[in-house]
Amino acid sequence: MRVLMGAAHDGLVGDDDLAELYAPPATPWLRVNMVSTVDGSATGDSGRSGSINNAADKKVFDTLRRIADVIVVGAGTARTEGYGPVSTPIVLVSRHAEVPEKLRGAEPGLVLMATCAQADHLDEARALLGDDQVLVLGSHRVDLAALRTTLVDRGWGNILCEGGPHLLRDLVAQGVADELTCTLVPRLVAGTHPRITDGPPIDVPLTLHTLLEEDGTLLGRWLLA
Ligand SMILES: NC(=O)c1ccc[n+]([C@@H]2O[C@H](COP(=O)([O-])OP(=O)(O)OC[C@H]3O[C@@H](n4cnc5c(N)ncnc54)[C@H](OP(=O)(O)O)[C@@H]3O)[C@@H](O)[C@H]2O)c1
Repeated sequence: MRVLMGAAHDGLVGDDDLAELYAPPATPWLRVNMVSTVDGSATGDSGRSGSINNAADKKVFDTLRRIADVIVVGAGTARTEGYGPVSTPIVLVSRHAEVPEKLRGAEPGLVLMATCAQADHLDEARALLGDDQVLVLGSHRVDLAALRTTLVDRGWGNILCEGGPHLLRDLVAQGVADELTCTLVPRLVAGTHPRITDGPPIDVPLTLHTLLEEDGTLLGRWLLA
């Protein structure tokens, strides 16, 4: 992998340098990590990001997970991508609070639910995850700024969000995200697929912080104002 722009490193960087290259500039820090084709698709044939990502993206994906204190993910993405428990705590964001099948029965504390008081599966989520792991952050909607504060108060200052498109859009619209980390894979897929954002329009400038390249794949860090 080589550095095209930004970062202290010049030229080639090894896999061992990635943790340093992707270190948050400050804490607390909330970054969202996404992958897209050159024609702007967030998924390929399978309807999942797994059908568009590649080895370079996987290296960064794994590094970001390794250095994060906590992973935040929209319930839609957890369902579609078939999320299972990992050693880092996963916080699902959902208006309904339904815990996806593969995340049930995880070790206590490894799966949390951020939801609202009106959620129809609230009691079930509490029974499955434990009262302390169900964060009620609003009556009808999930207050994402309150989510960030709650996670930081739990000692999780390096927050990684893995999407999906609606959650990315909402985090940006509510001014809660510090960084978008996005891989552009050198492919075109056409068809009808989601982009990395979805939902009502927003128009937010980004500042390019770092740009890496490997085998034609561009890996960027963009800061939100
Ligand atoms: N290319 C990439 O990097 C990437 C990354 C992630 C996902 N994806 C793809 O994106 C697709 C999924 O898109 P999506 O838009 O459905 O993903 P999403 O944003 O994860 O899912 C939407 C669902 O997540 C919950 N949610 C999201 N934002 C919320 C908010 N602000 N407050 C409360 N709940 C919120 C809601 O769940 P409830 O319905 O439970 O209330 C909502 O229905 C899949 O095809 C997936 O493979 C691609």
